[in-house]
Amino acid sequence: MNNPSPASQRGGDSEASIKRGLWSSRMAFVLAATGSAVGLGNIWKFPYVTGENGGGAFVLVYLFCIAAVGLPIMMAEILIGRRGGASPIRSMGQITRRDGHHRAWGLAAVIGVLAAFLILSFYSMIGGWAVSYISTSATGQLTGLSADAIGEIFSGLLGNPWALLGWHTLFMALVVFVVIRGLRGGLERAVTILMPALFVLLLIVVGYAMTTGHFGEGVAFLFQPDFSGLTTAGVLVALGHAFFTLSLGMAVMMAYGSYLSKNVSIAKTSIVVSVMDTGVALLAGLAIFPIVFANGLEPGAGPGLIFQTLPLAFGQMPWGSLFGTLFFILLTFAAWTSAISLLEPVVEWLEEKKGMSRGKSTIGAGIACWLLGIVSILSLNVWSDVTPLGMFAMFEGKTIFDLLDFVTASVMLPLAGLLVALFAGWIMTREALQNELAMSARSFSLWYGIIRYVTPVAVAVVFIYNLL
Ligand code: PFF
Repeated sequence: MNNPSPASQRGGDSEASIKRGLWSSRMAFVLAATGSAVGLGNIWKFPYVTGENGGGAFVLVYLFCIAAVGLPIMMAEILIGRRGGASPIRSMGQITRRDGHHRAWGLAAVIGVLAAFLILSFYSMIGGWAVSYISTSATGQLTGLSADAIGEIFSGLLGNPWALLGWHTLFMALVVFVVIRGLRGGLERAVTILMPALFVLLLIVVGYAMTTGHFGEGVAFLFQPDFSGLTTAGVLVALGHAFFTLSLGMAVMMAYGSYLSKNVSIAKTSIVVSVMDTGVALLAGLAIFPIVFANGLEPGAGPGLIFQTLPLAFGQMPWGSLFGTLFFILLTFAAWTSAISLLEPVVEWLEEKKGMSRGKSTIGAGIACWLLGIVSILSLNVWSDVTPLGMFAMFEGKTIFDLLDFVTASVMLPLAGLLVALFAGWIMTREALQNELAMSARSFSLWYGIIRYVTPVAVAVVFIYNLL
């Protein structure tokens, strides 16, 4: 991924006088958007939420949510960004003003920016886990260990707030460093190499998973829907995850869309990004579940799932330390490119609203996120018994970290997504939409029907059902 708004493009002066740069090519946009979309959500979160929600039926609902909700909203976000031609909050404002709509619609972008801030705080902590496993793997500590021993390494990490703080700090520093400097070209080139490399390494682990003798069981778990294991809460998780994994509802795609040139097809580009993102998640599932079953592990083990399974594979396969190290380097990179895109809207907001320089806003936002991240770190150990909303049945046993995850992924993102869908489907003029999407009449009608009816109804139903 790259940073789409290096200081040189936007400067700190009056916005109107600044000519905004555009992505160098469609490919650059696809890489940036994919860099944002593919991250911990695909490799860390997808397998564990699938495991917690019973497998196949959850995957099916998730795939439906990607196609019927995620993809159309991604198109809407990109087109709003491109039409507004400014940062997310300003873009929505721009369109509402120009076309005479109520200003309250800007709320979608505000929720998005706030969600991005909250998510980054714990995303950085998990990114830190990935960084720490680079050294665990490189020093050969994983070689030949039993599932129990690997589990102990992981719980040792979670139980050590200072270690977690160190890795979280390092990860956040990496993110701030890039967002300040806007290393556009370098990152663009790096994504071109590292994303395919991550894909290949995942394939290698899938290859290993095939030798465990439990591959069929893993495939069946992922793809044979058994609806008895799926709750309505699980459906909300699937919906929220569709937003999370495609980087939607956080104004990120709006921000990126604002740098997209007019002659790029929004539909085709969105399809490419969604397919790649989904492909990586499914591959991660195929790599992990056979290992889970081969070692008698619990699919619903929660957020530690990949850190308890993949090291087993690396500990047993030939060249395991090397592959393991490479894998965690690439995972860190994928998390890094996503985290950069989470910080970007927050920084843009500070630049515009508070008139702060890019450097100051990046460091300020980075420090605030870092501080909030400490709360998530503590909720894994010192505060592991603190469940602030435990008196409500729905939140029973949820730590602060669990609550942050729930509030962002399951409440704020679907809500922001719903507003985006309503704004695009019901408020913006048909002409403006057609103009931006430039699709055949038939494809346009299909998208228009979905964004007006299917998406809002699906989100509203799942939402209301769960919260009432
Ligand atoms: N899509 C990223 C992932 O799956 O890891 C997470 C993410 C990045 C969410 C950027 C939102 C966002 F704006």
